Amino acid sequence: MTESGDTVRRRRVVVGVGGGIAAYKACALIRILTESGCHVDVIPTEAALRFVGAATFEALSGNPVSTGVFSDVPSVRHVALGQRADLVVVAPATADLLSRAATGRADDLLTSTLLTARCPVLLAPAMHTEMWEHPATRRNVDTLRADGVHVMPPASGRLTGADSGAGRLPEPADIGRLAALLLDGGALPWDLAGRHVVVTAGGTREELDPVRFLGNRSSGKQGHAIAAVAAARGARVTLVTSADLPVPPAVEGVRVESARELHAEVLRLAADADVVVKAAAVADFRPVEVAEAKLKKGSGSEPAEIRLVQNPDILADLVAARSGGEVPAGTVLVGFAAETGDATASVLEHGRRKLARKGCDLLVVNEVGRGTTFGEDVNGGWILDAAGGETELDRGSKDLMAGRILDAVAARLDGRPASDPA
Ligand code: CTP
Repeated sequence: MTESGDTVRRRRVVVGVGGGIAAYKACALIRILTESGCHVDVIPTEAALRFVGAATFEALSGNPVSTGVFSDVPSVRHVALGQRADLVVVAPATADLLSRAATGRADDLLTSTLLTARCPVLLAPAMHTEMWEHPATRRNVDTLRADGVHVMPPASGRLTGADSGAGRLPEPADIGRLAALLLDGGALPWDLAGRHVVVTAGGTREELDPVRFLGNRSSGKQGHAIAAVAAARGARVTLVTSADLPVPPAVEGVRVESARELHAEVLRLAADADVVVKAAAVADFRPVEVAEAKLKKGSGSEPAEIRLVQNPDILADLVAARSGGEVPAGTVLVGFAAETGDATASVLEHGRRKLARKGCDLLVVNEVGRGTTFGEDVNGGWILDAAGGETELDRGSKDLMAGRILDAVAARLDGRPASDPA
């Protein structure tokens, strides 16, 4: 019930479970979804029930479980479950299940449900590396993606037995994160495949002595969300971050501290990037002197004042490097601006001026100062483009916001050759 007394419809999620050893991890995913308030129907395959019993799925979801199309015939479950679902997520999706789904088979309750579902469908594959890399599986994945199904890239690491490589089921929390994005109305088109996206995140730390630094209140959540969603849309992603947050799956993380470290890494990586998203909150100034030992009060070594020197403007240097040919001419450069309105200009006017001053292609403008944005899980604002266009971003999760920013980026990339075609 809402405060006004309306009943909020529980979102209905079908969790399909394929017959692989990773079926046990589906239990954690079911728990994540029920705890977020979803109604969950679990549909295992016959083979999945050799790994995890129906009683476990029934207890976790609170709903009956069946595998075939001939159980509970009067309720026409093989049609009804798919029709009513807001999301179908399959974890693990085995090589066999991908093949049956790609060819439109309807030989059990799960594949029948996949055919009747008109909601987003998210498949999380798990299999041995050879099976994942086999041309037959590649074709099936391409077919499913062309049909609008979202097939997550599997994680890399330890597989059953002694081998390791690509083919591990992504972590339940990472599957749950994409499920939440799709349930919130976000989309995950496979439109950044072959693109190299560089994202910067977090507030830089400018060293004062071995234990102290000058920093800012940026949490890095928005930058990390952009990296996660870009990877889920097929991009090769490098995340240059100073935030104390985990690097999302299928993303290469580069840890930095100071603006100068960030500057060096970003200019190096931009040489072959299709996109650079500068979500990092870069300190404009750093201390002139960095003490080698901790500054102690009463020791006589404490500074009477801290003198500051200006840091390089990384975004401006990227724009200059693009003009000079060190960064490809087609690289899309995206800046961020956290602004407050003042007597001289509104938030948007400040944003427009900054876009013109920096010379980037897109500027994401957030309003700050009213307890919003820093460290929060939701965000809002505007995307301004160099041609004068303006798109308002309704407040929503940082993953949803990431999707909208990447939509604007993808529209600018449209038609340009990819930097590393698969
Ligand atoms: N930025 C950068 N290098 C800097 C400062 C900022 O690359 N030394 C980038 C940020 O990553 C962000 C954009 O520029 O994408 C705008 O950051 P902001 O701090 O708002 O810009 P400033 O030029 O510092 O403007 P202000 O004078 O309003 O602080």
